Amino acid sequence: MELIDVVTVDGPAGAGKSATTRELAARLGIEYLNTGAMYRAIALQAIRLGLNLEDVDALERVAKESTLESREGRTFLNGEDVTDAVRAQEISQAVRYPANAPSVRAILVEAQRRIGLERPIATEGRDQGSVVFPDARCKFYLTASPEERARRRLGELRSRGEDEPLDRILEQIIARDKSDMEREVGPLREPEDAIRVDSDGKSIEQVVAEMERAARERLAFLQ
Ligand code: DC
Repeated sequence: MELIDVVTVDGPAGAGKSATTRELAARLGIEYLNTGAMYRAIALQAIRLGLNLEDVDALERVAKESTLESREGRTFLNGEDVTDAVRAQEISQAVRYPANAPSVRAILVEAQRRIGLERPIATEGRDQGSVVFPDARCKFYLTASPEERARRRLGELRSRGEDEPLDRILEQIIARDKSDMEREVGPLREPEDAIRVDSDGKSIEQVVAEMERAARERLAFLQ
C-alpha cells in the first residue's frame, strides 16, 4: 500500500482533537481539516431547508447538492463560512442524523479523500485513520477519561456563562461515546497502527509537542 502524507486524529468527543490538530497542522505547515464540521454543515443546511432530519433520502440530497470546502481550517457551505454557525447547540443535537446516514457518509468520505489527495493535511474526526485514510503515514488516537472530558466540557460551558451538573455532563459523554462507537457505518475505532495519545492531565502544549515529534518522523515531505 502506497502511504500518503496525511495525519489523522481520531478519538471521542471532548478529547481535545480540534485544538490539538489545528495547532499541529500550523506547526507542520499543512492544512487542518475538521470533518465533524462537515457533518455539522449538512445538519445546518437540512435545518435551514426545514427538512425532516429523519428523512435519510432528503439528507442525502442535501449532501449531494451542497458544496463543502475547507480553507485555512474554516468550513464553507455553498461558499458561506459556517465555521462558527455549526458550533451551535441546536446543530450538536441534530448532527447525529447525517452522521448516522450511510449515504451521507459515503459522499463526505469521498469529499474528504479528494481534499487529502490534493495536499498534505492533518484531519480530525472519528473514522479518518480507519476508513477515510487507511494509508495515512501518521495516525493518532487521542483520548482522555470520560471524567476529564466532562470537566473540560463544564469549563467550556461556564466560560460561555452556562452551567450544568457535572454528573449530567458525564452521562451525556458516555451516551455519545456509545452512539459514536455503535454506528454501523464509520464508527469510532482505534486504528491498529495509530499512536495512542492520552491527554488526561496534560496541557494542549504537551499533547501537541508529543504529536509533532511523531509526525515529523513519519511525514515524507518533511524528510
Ligand atoms: O467532532 P464533532 O463534535 O464536531 O463531530 C460532530 C458529530 O459528527 C459527532 O456526533 C461525530 C460525527 N462525526 C463523524 O461521525 N465522523 C467524523 N469523521 C467526524 C464527526
